[in-house]
Amino acid sequence: MPDLNPARDGTAFTVRPHASPVSAEQRAELLRDPGFGRVFTDHMAVIDYTEGRGWHDARIEARAPVLMDPASAVLHYAQEIFEGLKAYATPDGGATLFRPDQNALRFARSAERLAMPPLPNDLFVDSLQQLIRVDRDWIPTVAGGSLYLRPFMFASEVFLGVRPSKQYLYMVIASPVGSYFKGGAKPVTVWVSQDYTRAAPGGTGEAKCGGNYAASLAAQAEASRHGCEQVVFLDAAERRWVEELGGMNIFFVMDDGTLVTPPLGTILPGITRDSLIAMAQREGITVRQEPYSIDQWRADAASGRLREVFACGTAAVITPIGTVRTTEGEFIMPGSGATQGITERLRRTLTDMQRGSGPDPFGWVHHAA
Ligand code: PLP
Ligand code: COI
Repeated sequence: MPDLNPARDGTAFTVRPHASPVSAEQRAELLRDPGFGRVFTDHMAVIDYTEGRGWHDARIEARAPVLMDPASAVLHYAQEIFEGLKAYATPDGGATLFRPDQNALRFARSAERLAMPPLPNDLFVDSLQQLIRVDRDWIPTVAGGSLYLRPFMFASEVFLGVRPSKQYLYMVIASPVGSYFKGGAKPVTVWVSQDYTRAAPGGTGEAKCGGNYAASLAAQAEASRHGCEQVVFLDAAERRWVEELGGMNIFFVMDDGTLVTPPLGTILPGITRDSLIAMAQREGITVRQEPYSIDQWRADAASGRLREVFACGTAAVITPIGTVRTTEGEFIMPGSGATQGITERLRRTLTDMQRGSGPDPFGWVHHAA
């Protein structure tokens, strides 16, 4: 196993501020209702990698288009990985991040799976802090708002042979965001895909690589055609076990108060998922990480054994699942969206912690600016 956290040498950031940043008035207008992933800040973080030289030229500079040769390896073989996490504004003018060390570790694991050089963990976290420091004023202060950070890295070598690239570009861009779903925290409707799968054992399901999302789009489009906000993927071998959604993990709340969530293996190891498991266990709630089938889901919804179902992830936070549509008809989770339910309680505890307004018994909140 390669060293997932190599030493960082000679990678102090140079900061070159934007010559003509967006005015305070324009920014305020953009922050009023940013949506998700449409508005971007003034700056970006960039680090180059060259084989033999390692990571070099770490910098914060004006956000600008990337000039690419048409033969850049990423455009052909999709050697690309990314991360997603949020920065929150604190009332004292600072900013927090939630478990950025975990994103750093996952980024390094994704890099390893895609045969890319790992970025040292502290350099990853430093790149976020440096960017937040210059673009702090872009963090929305409206309820539910945050600054979504998108670190990513891609193969930039100009070469058409099929082998790992010798050059990479690592970048972080930042986007002020509101709710991921248009309806806010209201229960969403999901489509269970029978035709498409997301990941097979030995594949890239555990890695956060762009290719996984490209492969999910046809299923997501099918979900949209059926009036659903998200797609639910089943396992590739038996088309029976619930895995995860296109961009979120999933939890089932049973009538005895226990939680069930699919085990790791082919799903993305979500940091929200991991956090909720620890938070629930701390409250004395039993969490079972075990396979759960679509037939069981339907049966448990009908019998009332299943109380609530929710999706979770950085972008979606915790979103209740209300209606499940399949090729064989739909079923409804009446308890999802209940203001007294476990979903709502976990959502509030998590978001209060992330925003620095609630207790942080695990020491997960990282002060970034
Ligand atoms: N599953 C998929 C496929 C995702 O894209 C995401 C989002 O990042 C998640 C799960 C949840 O991961 P996290 O909680 O780390 O954001
Ligand atoms: C995230 O929650 O960060 C995701 O990556 C989900 C989606 C926006 C791709």
